[in-house]
Amino acid sequence: MIEAVQKTLQQYLADQVQAVERALDKWTPAESAEPQSIHTAMRYSLFAGGKRIRPVLAIAAAEAISDCPAGIEDAAATLELVHTYSLIHDDLPALDNDDLRRGRPTCHKVFGEAMAILAGDGLLTLAFEVLSRLPHRSAEQRIHMVQELSSAAGTVGGMIGGQVQDIEGEGRQPTAALLETIHKSKTGALLRASVRIGAIYAGANAEQLAALSEYGEHIGLAFQIVDDVLDMEESSEALGKTAGKDQAQQKITFPAVYGLERSRSMAEEERLAAHRALRIFDDRAERLRQIADFIVQRRA
Ligand code: IPE
Ligand code: IPE
Ligand code: MG
Ligand code: MG
Ligand code: MG
Repeated sequence: MIEAVQKTLQQYLADQVQAVERALDKWTPAESAEPQSIHTAMRYSLFAGGKRIRPVLAIAAAEAISDCPAGIEDAAATLELVHTYSLIHDDLPALDNDDLRRGRPTCHKVFGEAMAILAGDGLLTLAFEVLSRLPHRSAEQRIHMVQELSSAAGTVGGMIGGQVQDIEGEGRQPTAALLETIHKSKTGALLRASVRIGAIYAGANAEQLAALSEYGEHIGLAFQIVDDVLDMEESSEALGKTAGKDQAQQKITFPAVYGLERSRSMAEEERLAAHRALRIFDDRAERLRQIADFIVQRRA
């Protein structure tokens, strides 16, 4: 534990990312599995160097509850499967129409729209297969995690619901209330679920789960505020995706409603609130505190 705390966040992230990559590789069908085209497309988008922040959050949340529970990286990997699916679909011509993702041409640019839609479907479906088959957890815990992930990805306050409002909001007069609803659902819900799934996996009690959920809500909102800010401040090269897209598409974003400076300070307020939510935890939650800082201070 002492050695673990002494590791820098950078080293910690690198180690967890490696464990997550191994889990993703283990569960995702090989390119040689038939039909080869879809497995090639799924793997193309999955192994393109994302930050893996959702699985890392799941692992760090589990570690706040108990010493690294066996197999946590498998549960954590399901968050990345759903997230990568959401990115492939977000980039489609019918949604954000993006050419660049994770520093590469988008899935539909390389494999065509039909295959990109199906690759997203394949990743989403695989996530629930993995959760249902987790070897180290009871059926009850597996069902609980399936509920968490499906509702976070769903239409009522979840990722798809938020994407609908994001698309329908293009070019409309933004309101502060709608802005918050969109961000909490399109991005916040999956980040909150990442923390909750890690906690559930590690057997958190009700008080711990409530505190971690609150933490997840704050970092979830902070994450999308910062994503909006970076879209305006950084280059496509730095981001690995097309910069300046939100303004071009008249998206309802934090900078559009509040301006850059106020958006930055709102992200900072969320970071502090995330820290406060962790007050019932000791040093075990140190990684979660560092990750909250990382989310707000990152440049990509
Ligand atoms: C980008 O997510 C899309 C949002 C939900 C804001 P990330 O910034 O986590 O993207 P990757 O996974 O690192 O590529
Ligand atoms: C995407 O939000 C949220 C998802 C559910 C994928 P954005 O459209 O802002 O994400 P980027 O900026 O393209 O990564
Ligand atoms: Mg979008
Ligand atoms: Mg987009
Ligand atoms: Mg964005």
